[in-house]
Amino acid sequence: MSARRPLIAGNWKMNGRKADGLALVRALADWLAGEGAAHRDRFDMLVCPPATLIAPVIDALGGAPLDVGGQDCHAAENGAHTGDISAWMLKDLGATHVIVGHSERRTDHHEDDEQVRAKAAAALAAGLVPIICIGETEAERDAGQALAIVARQLNGSLPEGATGTNVVIAYEPVWAIGTGRTPTAQDVAEVHQRIRAEARGRIGDGADALRILYGGSVKPGNAAELMAIEDVDGALVGGASLKAADFQAIALGC
Ligand code: G3P
Repeated sequence: MSARRPLIAGNWKMNGRKADGLALVRALADWLAGEGAAHRDRFDMLVCPPATLIAPVIDALGGAPLDVGGQDCHAAENGAHTGDISAWMLKDLGATHVIVGHSERRTDHHEDDEQVRAKAAAALAAGLVPIICIGETEAERDAGQALAIVARQLNGSLPEGATGTNVVIAYEPVWAIGTGRTPTAQDVAEVHQRIRAEARGRIGDGADALRILYGGSVKPGNAAELMAIEDVDGALVGGASLKAADFQAIALGC
């Protein structure tokens, strides 16, 4: 475990009607006010609901120490971009973070590093912390290219003005997302170490404070082992963040 305070972030993806989202966030708020309170200074906690639920989730929090973020943003502040949401709109709702460059966006919407960098820059300009996702495919790992891919994505996606504290990086190997498979602890350590080294080349000693999350099939049963790896500073959790008990157990693994 590093000296950096871990961030436990839940990416709800395209899941949840209003009643589901409110029940989940109320359960987390209750836990943070009760049993979780004793552990609360060990980690920061964030949930990223679908855009439709951001405002109701923030309203339902009632001041609980839980941040709320978006799952994506457009690079522009306003304009003719039907269906999109800007970083400024997320900020206006009370969001603190936004995920950019998730592999599902890179695949489904053909987003490249340049677009991800523009979105991350927009997030910074709006006063949000971008969580910049990077990670190799299975074919890339099998070809021995994992480190080169994450280095390229990091350098291509990191915006001007990034520091160790105003951005977060999430390493999510594409082949580990939703599959129940995870890299070995040694592989995770190697990639995270490389990410920090690349970040050092861009932002200097600020890289020491940079939080680098691991994402991809994080569950209560493997969280402690993953969080204990050097240079792993928290988790970006998909499926297991939809169950309050599982998300809480992952946080306790820090
Ligand atoms: O962003 C989190 C995600 O891609 C990992 O999903 O379901 O494997 O935890 P999951």
